[in-house]
Amino acid sequence: MPSTFNASLKHQTLTHMKPQILQLNPILIPAINDELASLYHVHKYFEIADQAAWLREHGPSIQAVITGGHTGISRAMLEQLPALKVVAINGVGTDAVDLEYCRGRNLPVTATLGALTEDVADLAIGLLIAACRNICAGDRFVREGQWELYPQPSAIPLARRFSGMNVGIVGMGRVGRAVATRAAAFGCPIRYTDLRCVDDVPHEFVADLRELARRSDALVLCAAADKAEGIVDAAVLDALGPRGYLVNVARGRLVNEADLAEAVAAGRIAGAGLDVFVDEPRVPQALRESDRTTLQAHRASATWETRTAMAQMVLESVAQALAGGRPTMSLTT
Ligand code: 8YV
Repeated sequence: MPSTFNASLKHQTLTHMKPQILQLNPILIPAINDELASLYHVHKYFEIADQAAWLREHGPSIQAVITGGHTGISRAMLEQLPALKVVAINGVGTDAVDLEYCRGRNLPVTATLGALTEDVADLAIGLLIAACRNICAGDRFVREGQWELYPQPSAIPLARRFSGMNVGIVGMGRVGRAVATRAAAFGCPIRYTDLRCVDDVPHEFVADLRELARRSDALVLCAAADKAEGIVDAAVLDALGPRGYLVNVARGRLVNEADLAEAVAAGRIAGAGLDVFVDEPRVPQALRESDRTTLQAHRASATWETRTAMAQMVLESVAQALAGGRPTMSLTT
């Protein structure tokens, strides 16, 4: 038998024997993709043309799903994956997965807890400073040659000082705490709200979100969106007021986006730094065209360091589940 035929047969056999995993989002770390491909038969769902037909044919063989926090997985899709042993979220948000249903199936759902905390907090502070100091508008002013046309100091309005601002944090979990640490280093008095007062946090707890907004120069959203939707509405934005800034590095749906767009357009808040939106990648026109907004395309965890650490945790969770154990990062089993 010719050796090329042998090699191809061996490849086919090995491919056939490898556990089949379904990847719903791209992973941007080449070494991780190589490792996944060496261990598993990876199906990249986002590259499949007829996804419904593919799922009917291959769904029964899939043993692991890798997905993003924002993408999650629908219950309908889960129901088409009867051999599934794990849903590994490449992120910390679990709001796009039906955890109750997964618990009922004794199906581990894992997250990359702790891996992205520092980067998300860094971006929150970055967005806040960018919003207060009009960094993006200033960049455009220089880049577009406006400075030469309008060299007088009055051509750009004065900005707002960030250091010492009253910062209100919504959600005192890992990211909220990391934002608090950073804001404290800028001399900012910090208050927070959460479902309940957190014992080991030295900052003032304010139970009512509107009251927190009223007492804050900047409101930073770091909360999980599993149980909360539209909590930042017109009333909260008006309590934040025309000198107040909103930062969102959590989930778009925590905010009533129509209310936010109106408040920004009318100058009822001073500005917003937003990494997340209700219907990504669609961003309301009013938010895109305003000079009061600083926008990012859901990038808070998107550094080499964090994405590598996250993907390694995903690999670990998949390996643990396929070996028949309970993944250490499981939230449901
Ligand atoms: C990630 C996120 O960008 O952790 C989450 O829940 O939304 C983000 O940090 C996303 O999961 C990347 O796949």
